[in-house]
Amino acid sequence: VTSDPYGDPDLVALYDIDNPPGEDHEYYRALADRLQARRIVDLGCGTGLLTRTLARPGRSVVGIDPSPTMLDWARRQPGAEDVIWIEGGADAIAGPVDLVLCTGNAIMHVDDAALRTAFARVSAAVGPDGMFAFESRNPGAREWEGWTRERTYGSRRTSLGLLTEWIEVVEVEGERVSFEAHNVLPDGADRVYTSVLYFRSADVLRAALIDAGLGDIEIDGGWRAEPVEDTSRLLVVRARRS
Ligand SMILES: C[S@@+](CC[C@H](N)C(=O)[O-])C[C@H]1O[C@@H](n2cnc3c(N)ncnc32)[C@H](O)[C@@H]1O
Repeated sequence: VTSDPYGDPDLVALYDIDNPPGEDHEYYRALADRLQARRIVDLGCGTGLLTRTLARPGRSVVGIDPSPTMLDWARRQPGAEDVIWIEGGADAIAGPVDLVLCTGNAIMHVDDAALRTAFARVSAAVGPDGMFAFESRNPGAREWEGWTRERTYGSRRTSLGLLTEWIEVVEVEGERVSFEAHNVLPDGADRVYTSVLYFRSADVLRAALIDAGLGDIEIDGGWRAEPVEDTSRLLVVRARRS
């Protein structure tokens, strides 16, 4: 049993298959190019699928993640040598940087106290023309209501053999949603990992960013600058040092 929901070395091999590059990766790469970012930090980089594609000559890319399992995987992928990998959290960010990213909803794992510290750290690290960008699921869409055994249950062939999986919410307390991810592999044992995600509204995120000394906050309702609506699935956030 681990407190790290990404701590299973077998399941980490499936992560990139389940979370392939999409509009999110294109969005963050385009942002980095538009800013002509020369120093990028990817906080909560996970397996580093996006992180590695940000690297190019004349640009330094640092991937930071608290999960040794995710980082071990990241370090073994092609192109990993072009990124500096650090095991840790926001404390490990060393400024000045042009762009801090926190992608794949990684910010939702961070509790309120740690969020304050993390945003303050980011605020101190981004340079005068720098930016902080991340996305977070919008509580208005109430996505967790679909996270039931019956609605998520399924089996598929994987590199580990037949995997039967489902997720199930176990507790909702305000913004805080805890759910169990079940994974039954051919040995029959159910590997269960509990995740806690904080569903914060645009107003809550905005206030936390301002408290940390960030400003020029822009929040979209999707990857194509859609306006935020009550039921937008995602909040795509950009902020600068104020
Ligand atoms: C859903 S994954 C996203 C990984 C990657 N950014 C992506 O888009 O594929 C969430 C990641 O957040 C990391 N994480 C959890 N708590 C964190 C924290 N306090 N600070 C930074 N990263 C954290 C996890 O270890 C995990 O790798």
